[in-house]
Amino acid sequence: MTLLVVATGNPGKLREMQAYLSDCGWELTLKPEDLEIEETGDTFAANACLKASQVAQATGNWAIADDSGLQVDALNGAPGVYSARYAKTDGDRIARVLKELGDTPNRQAQFVCVVAIARPDGTIALQSEGVCRGQILHAPRGSGGFGYDPIFCPQDKQLTFAEMTPELKRSVSHRGKAFAALLQKLPHLNNTHC
Ligand code: IMP
Repeated sequence: MTLLVVATGNPGKLREMQAYLSDCGWELTLKPEDLEIEETGDTFAANACLKASQVAQATGNWAIADDSGLQVDALNGAPGVYSARYAKTDGDRIARVLKELGDTPNRQAQFVCVVAIARPDGTIALQSEGVCRGQILHAPRGSGGFGYDPIFCPQDKQLTFAEMTPELKRSVSHRGKAFAALLQKLPHLNNTHC
């Protein structure tokens, strides 16, 4: 098994990636706690690549990172790469998006996720992207999930991300699509069994 360091300190993210990458010949582990990486990129791809690359170089192992966020059309793509930093708490971040949108009839938005895998020398081996288009509601609905889930309803669905089971969310979400695309490309790396 090849060690794959996940460029996050979040055990929840490690579990999620383990679920996506099960049976792929990787042994996933969290990055060292004292290794801090600043997300200085201005795109999701730049941030995913810099996180994967820096963790790979610092640990001398293969590394994987993802970066994701919400882009609202009527807000010119905000909060975008600032999704996690848009306000202090999930509730405050949701309130800020709803306030900025006001009664705007254009509620179109999308979640984007980019996943990158870096080789031990820091070069990027694989990159994939997933996009989930949908609508921003006028008020939150549902209690599952995290982040902006209660105000986002994917296209052609009646439920918000926060009202979906984790399995249903995975099947339509930006992150699910990014990992599905990654799995398609993994055989080309030659060190996995997928
Ligand atoms: P990161 O990819 O861990 O940097 O997360 C970026 C931020 O985007 C999160 O903190 C959330 O605010 C938001 N976000 C990303 N994916 C989702 C999702 O699936 N649901 C709700 N919010 C999300």
